[in-house]
Amino acid sequence: MEMSTKSLRAYVETYGCQMNISDGELMEGVLESHGYRIVDRPEDADVVIVNTCAIREHAEQRVLGRVSQLNGLKLERPELVIGVTGCMAQRMGDDLLERAPYIDLVMGPDGYRELPSHLQRLRAGGGLQGEEEGVRPVGKVPLQSGPVSKTGKRRIQLSVLDLDPRENYEGLEQRRRSGVAAWIPIQRGCDHRCTYCIVPYVRGPEKNRKPDEVLREVEEVVRSGISEVTLLGQTVNSYVHDDWAFPRLLRAVARVPGIRRVRFTSPHPNDVTPELVEVMAEEPAVCEQLHLPAQSGNDRTLKRMVRRYTVATFLEKVAMVRSAIPDISLSTDIIVGFPGETDSEFRDTLDLMRTVRFDDAFTYKYSLRDGTPATRLPESDFVELNVAQARLEELIEVSRGIQAEINESEIGRVDEVLVEREARDPGQMLGRTRRNKVVAFPGSPEIVGSYVPVELTATTGATFRGEKVAIPATVGRV
Ligand code: SAH
Ligand code: SF4
Ligand code: F3S
Repeated sequence: MEMSTKSLRAYVETYGCQMNISDGELMEGVLESHGYRIVDRPEDADVVIVNTCAIREHAEQRVLGRVSQLNGLKLERPELVIGVTGCMAQRMGDDLLERAPYIDLVMGPDGYRELPSHLQRLRAGGGLQGEEEGVRPVGKVPLQSGPVSKTGKRRIQLSVLDLDPRENYEGLEQRRRSGVAAWIPIQRGCDHRCTYCIVPYVRGPEKNRKPDEVLREVEEVVRSGISEVTLLGQTVNSYVHDDWAFPRLLRAVARVPGIRRVRFTSPHPNDVTPELVEVMAEEPAVCEQLHLPAQSGNDRTLKRMVRRYTVATFLEKVAMVRSAIPDISLSTDIIVGFPGETDSEFRDTLDLMRTVRFDDAFTYKYSLRDGTPATRLPESDFVELNVAQARLEELIEVSRGIQAEINESEIGRVDEVLVEREARDPGQMLGRTRRNKVVAFPGSPEIVGSYVPVELTATTGATFRGEKVAIPATVGRV
């Protein structure tokens, strides 16, 4: 079965969140183990996979533009296979094949195990002169006949859209792009129903991996020379498997010999419990960093978002974390212009930003996603685009201002930097501190993967410049 794929080259381009990036690495691993060679440019590939995100309309439009651009390559090389995978593929399904008929394959987030065999079928179908009925659908996959290619052969298109409540991709190897830090998915899907959010519909219900599988993977990662891991899940801290809740798993991961840094994302504020904070404070490998998505600083909005917490309880979580780990760096996600958000409710969000003083904030304009509960809110409630835009700009100004103040106050600190790669400026290397701050400092590529004590000497507001120092960094809490 693998005979004809031996020399094929595949290119995977990923959009969206860390989970999707990790899925991209998974697909590369699956393809590689079936004899594909992974290449860095679509021009060099026989198979191009665009692994997509559906979180906002803008994200989808970007992908549609990119896919039509890739069709330019297919016009030159009709045998090129274009696959669209991930959340947008799941959301749009066969509509995508109709809208962009040059796409050969749409595949949702639970189909990747069978990616090579579907590609194989596509190639076989492409090679059959008008005999696509001779290619039988496998399992539940619907088979459609597609347009006739330039060479006169019938093309088939495939869609693989079943969500599988058991698929956790156990036993498959990822092809990790970084040799310095590794993503470890521990959970797929989401059981929340935040009313703006498409994720539960395109990724299905929450599924948690077995703790021993997770730990085995972390051990393997260490053997490959990596000492920083980030545990991934949509509400990663709601992880539970038998009597393993998230704090227990986090502690076990942090204690795997050779692990020096552990991060996790994204936690849900409600599952930030005293037990979790205790593990974060006690385990030296757990980094002093927490992403805590607030979404809004107004109770009425939070309620209509179905976030299941209030501003007061969110602030209690922040206080609990900060009292246990004073040096912690906090980041958040905020949506402005949620349907019905008034100007004064938006001002509550600005107040929350000023109260908490996040080290970093990812800010978004509400984007309507078909099928989500928020679409059923009265149309008259929808916030005008220019109003939402103005709110976004004001929020960004406030959050960047706070970030710059915090970062300026950190100049002079000596932090341990894990060196990730060369910076764009010649002679400069880029890395992260335990608190997830990005630092550029003079160095050469052979230090990639090492831990270097760096004095923070200047900040652009968001990132730092630094100088290597001889004294060891005061690592985290001492
Ligand atoms: N599971 C993660 C979030 C994943 S999506 C969590 O719960 O934290 C990342 C961020 O995108 C969300 O936190 C939210 O701020 C934003 N987002 C999600 N849906 C959105 C929408 N319809 N419009 C605008 N922003 C959205
Ligand atoms: Fe979306 Fe809410 Fe689930 Fe996060 S917790 S993925 S925002 S539904
Ligand atoms: Fe996007 Fe899917 Fe992640 S919608 S944010 S790629 S889970």
